[in-house]
Amino acid sequence: MKIVTGAVVLFTAVSWNVAGSVVHRHAPTVTVDGGIIVGTTTRVHGATAAVNKFLGIPFASAPVGSARFSVPKPTNWIGEIDTKAFKPACIQAFRPFEDRNFIQDVFSIPRPQESEDCLYLNVFVPKKSFWKSLWDLFRTNFSKKRGKPVLFWIYGGGFNFGNAGQPIYDGSHFAALEDVIVVSINYRTNVFGFPIAPDIKNLTERNLGLLDQRAGLDWVQRNIEVFGGDPDRVTIFGQSAGAYAVDVLLTASWPDGAPFHAGIMESGTYSYNPLPNCNNTNYEGWNKLLIRLQCDNATSTFDCVMNKTASEIQYAQEKYNIGFGMAGDNITIVCDPRLRREAGNFTRVPVIGGTNLDEGSYYAAKNGTDIDRYFKTYFSNETDLKVKILDAYKLDPAEGRFDNQSILAQIHTDWNYHCPAVFLSNSSNRYVPTYRYLFNATFSNQLFTNLPDDRWPVSIQGVYHQAEIPIVFSTYNKTNATAEQKRLSNTMRHAWANFAKNPWKVPIKGWKTSGINGSTVMDFGIDGKGRYRLVKDATGKCWAWKDFIWNKHL
Ligand SMILES: *[C@@H]1O[C@H](CO)[C@@H](O)[C@H](O)[C@H]1NC(C)=O
Ligand SMILES: *[C@@H]1O[C@H](CO)[C@@H](O)[C@H](O)[C@H]1NC(C)=O
Ligand SMILES: *[C@@H]1O[C@H](CO)[C@@H](O)[C@H](O)[C@H]1NC(C)=O
Ligand SMILES: *[C@@H]1O[C@H](CO)[C@@H](O)[C@H](O)[C@H]1NC(C)=O
Ligand SMILES: *[C@@H]1O[C@H](CO)[C@@H](O)[C@H](O)[C@H]1NC(C)=O
Ligand SMILES: *[C@@H]1O[C@H](CO)[C@@H](O)[C@H](O)[C@H]1NC(C)=O
Ligand SMILES: *[C@@H]1O[C@H](CO)[C@@H](O)[C@H](O)[C@H]1NC(C)=O
Ligand SMILES: *[C@@H]1O[C@H](CO)[C@@H](O)[C@H](O)[C@H]1NC(C)=O
Ligand SMILES: *[C@@H]1O[C@H](CO)[C@@H](O)[C@H](O)[C@H]1NC(C)=O
Ligand SMILES: *[C@@H]1O[C@H](CO)[C@@H](O)[C@H](O)[C@H]1NC(C)=O
Ligand SMILES: *[C@@H]1O[C@H](CO)[C@@H](O)[C@H](O)[C@H]1NC(C)=O
Ligand SMILES: *[C@@H]1O[C@H](CO)[C@@H](O)[C@H](O)[C@H]1NC(C)=O
Repeated sequence: MKIVTGAVVLFTAVSWNVAGSVVHRHAPTVTVDGGIIVGTTTRVHGATAAVNKFLGIPFASAPVGSARFSVPKPTNWIGEIDTKAFKPACIQAFRPFEDRNFIQDVFSIPRPQESEDCLYLNVFVPKKSFWKSLWDLFRTNFSKKRGKPVLFWIYGGGFNFGNAGQPIYDGSHFAALEDVIVVSINYRTNVFGFPIAPDIKNLTERNLGLLDQRAGLDWVQRNIEVFGGDPDRVTIFGQSAGAYAVDVLLTASWPDGAPFHAGIMESGTYSYNPLPNCNNTNYEGWNKLLIRLQCDNATSTFDCVMNKTASEIQYAQEKYNIGFGMAGDNITIVCDPRLRREAGNFTRVPVIGGTNLDEGSYYAAKNGTDIDRYFKTYFSNETDLKVKILDAYKLDPAEGRFDNQSILAQIHTDWNYHCPAVFLSNSSNRYVPTYRYLFNATFSNQLFTNLPDDRWPVSIQGVYHQAEIPIVFSTYNKTNATAEQKRLSNTMRHAWANFAKNPWKVPIKGWKTSGINGSTVMDFGIDGKGRYRLVKDATGKCWAWKDFIWNKHL
């Protein structure tokens, strides 16, 4: 009799306390610090474990109305809320205007709803069977059990757009097949995330997008245990601007300890990116916006912008190609990342960083093949650099440069992605285990065959920017997937998960840290398909960029 009573009590305890156990409810339910959330359960092919998904959890109150341009603030609600579907993206800006559709056709599939009310995150948790939950509950009283490692995803989009709800970022395969938790967050971008305006005096408060990311990391520290996660084993990972953000977090100082134990940078770095940043008096973007919104003569220009609709502000940015940077406050973003890296003055956690072979193919094709215009856009007035680079990258079919497009593709790949990754792993590896990779695999079901215009034909897409994401997440289209694609995906996903579990151990057999000159590199797709091998990578033409990058950036 007594035993039965005990079992009933436990039964209830399990259903309420252990994330993911569905006992007397159909949907998984968890109490987080804002209130109660109700998720859904899903399965992925080939996995025995199911996955509990909690999509669209509010991690800050909605920055709408008078809270537009304000820092993320705590939130709570009454009763239960459904977390069964992704929430809208933050307001996005796709520019220049003439590329608006093209950018979305490539990077925003399918196009999400957008809203200023967008500070939500998603959690993918491996679901334990009932008996496993029961066993763990008993076991916790005998041995201290460790929670599951957490992979915290930060999307790309050039700090202009992006959305954690994109299907390619779905964390279900990681959860089901690797027994790790994935958290993906939304953060504000463009002027909504980076209002570099004179009216906002506190520099940190101009970096709202970075504060949103930090609010997401704080949320994980406070809440991930109730999902069975380990707050001491959070790995931040991101692609493109998301990787840049990872580097921003790695080089920031954390007086109270960093809320992560490892970082993964896919196709992006901050420390060696030669584009200007950290200019706290660059109000050019804001001033242009004022004019386009007809706010320039208002008594309070700031209030005038506050009074506009989100779509008016969005349209002005897109139509008139108005961009915003970040404010160097030396808190959320430091202005001397390169020097700090070289002095070892950064968060010393292991990192993985790498790039794709043809990162630049999209950019080189996107806006034509006019080399002069390209230099004007990215390096205006850098006449010495232009001479040096055009000499280094002159026409040479043997090296894959047979027209302006292929020249620009290589140039863009190198300065923006490849060389910064080489330089970063070179300095990073002096202080922490640093693993570098090259991604060189193309699969026919990942090529863009249906773009409405022909400016980026399949023949030049190559191993384009973002091509590794569906392989890492195992979210590639299962239709027409090849055995090689599946194998490579299993390998990379497993490497990322192993690294999240213990970044001080080698992620997969045979992968060595990057060595002097960042030269040891794992080549995923050495045959252009599924094979991989550690290679000594000649660092190409990075010598041609080094002085420029060093002089450009502290
Ligand atoms: C575990 O220990 C706590 C307090 O020590 C106790 O309240 C709880 O009932 C125990 N749980 C089990 C499953 O024995
Ligand atoms: C600047 O803003 C940040 C974020 O809101 C805040 O933590 C900090 O205290 C502010 N600094 C000053 C000097 O007010
Ligand atoms: C910052 O930007 C402003 C406006 O473009 C420019 O006048 C100024 O020279 C820049 N400062 C630095 C240090 O680059
Ligand atoms: C604001 O004033 C300037 C100078 O007087 C003028 O050129 C401009 O057209 C005015 N803008 C608006 C929106 O009225
Ligand atoms: C905001 O807009 C309303 C109507 O569109 C107008 O009456 C009001 O004066 C505006 N306020 C500011 C600060 O521009
Ligand atoms: C940030 O640090 C850099 C490098 O030390 C320095 O030049 C800059 O003035 C600092 N900016 C602020 C706002 O503290
Ligand atoms: C790291 O950089 C910060 C800012 O410049 C400085 O205050 C601190 O002393 C540096 N730490 C080390 C160990 O060099
Ligand atoms: C793209 O090309 C158009 C002309 O076709 C030009 O107006 C625009 O400035 C270019 N944009 C960039 C970013 O180079
Ligand atoms: C580039 O040079 C032109 C003409 O020499 C000058 O007007 C412009 O301000 C310069 N731009 C920058 C960013 O220095
Ligand atoms: C997967 O590929 C098939 C065949 O090309 C296509 O019909 C389908 O729409 C694709 N699915 C997704 C989600 O892209
Ligand atoms: C997928 O495979 C089918 C049948 O083999 C073929 O007809 C189709 O063209 C393929 N689609 C793609 C996108 O490769
Ligand atoms: C990339 O793959 C191609 C085949 O598609 C191969 O010829 C080339 O050697 C590979 N490069 C690297 C660096 O792996």
